[in-house]
Amino acid sequence: MRWEPKESVAIVTGASSGIGRCLCRRLLRSGASVVANARREERLLELQDSADNASADNAEQRFFPVVGDVTDPTVRQEIIRVAGSIRSGELDLLVNNAGIGALGPFADAEPSRLRRIMEVNFFAPVELTRLALDLLRRGRAPVICNLCSVLGHRAVPDKSEYCASKFAMHGFSDSLRAELAPTGIQVTLVSPSTTESEFFDSLIDTDAGQTSKSIGSWPADRVAKATMSAIRARRSEVICSLGGKALVYADRLSPPIVNAVLKKS
Ligand SMILES: NC(=O)c1ccc[n+]([C@@H]2O[C@H](COP(=O)([O-])OP(=O)(O)OC[C@H]3O[C@@H](n4cnc5c(N)ncnc54)[C@H](OP(=O)(O)O)[C@@H]3O)[C@@H](O)[C@H]2O)c1
Repeated sequence: MRWEPKESVAIVTGASSGIGRCLCRRLLRSGASVVANARREERLLELQDSADNASADNAEQRFFPVVGDVTDPTVRQEIIRVAGSIRSGELDLLVNNAGIGALGPFADAEPSRLRRIMEVNFFAPVELTRLALDLLRRGRAPVICNLCSVLGHRAVPDKSEYCASKFAMHGFSDSLRAELAPTGIQVTLVSPSTTESEFFDSLIDTDAGQTSKSIGSWPADRVAKATMSAIRARRSEVICSLGGKALVYADRLSPPIVNAVLKKS
């Protein structure tokens, strides 16, 4: 069984830039109705305009922006209300994509940095998932797609809060996939490596001097394309990029070697 975008109903959080924005465009072009959430209203309206131009098939009537902070329970309720109004209370896809990060040693950070990252990257998507389950149970080949990270498989220094949030998302997704198997709802975990987006411009509580190392990067639309393929095939997990796979599989084979490399670097 495959997930088909045409005439489907999808929710995408973090739709105003990067991977979420590219994924919305792909979904709209493929005939899905998309409930798109982010805080920047003007960006969502821009996305609506660009989708109109890119798609002849009434994309504007299939685009439903919900402006607001996904950590706000009333915003999450509104996302679900709007999604439920599109096709008689049915939902085919929930993409938990909104995310933030920070760089720098744990010891130098205020507790608020950890709190905020866990609220945006973990508690908000988990609570949105809880609210969406009834609609998803009535959906067609329904999928919950969680944007994780290769850092949700192998943690690295100076990103402790971010790694913790993505490990939490990884564990939650594996557990939920097994729980929901009898209902026919699939949970797809997508783990990008470094991606060209606004992510590193939006870091919170991070000193200007902090930098992030990576081996290569993918454009956001390449990650969106891989995400769309994983959703269509209803895969359990996808790890993006050669560098990302190298990190994750090296760690699965021999954590002590990766520990030693990270200590040296
Ligand atoms: N970029 C990377 O290197 C990388 C690598 C691995 C995984 N990822 C993951 O991929 C996902 C997408 O990141 P990206 O690279 O596309 O970054 P991005 O360009 O910064 O996009 C992040 C999106 O999340 C939204 N967002 C942030 N906080 C929000 C909040 N409180 N409420 C609602 N929306 C919020 C932002 O919109 P507003 O600011 O308008 O709210 C934006 O649309 C994230 O989960 C990230 O952790 C990224």
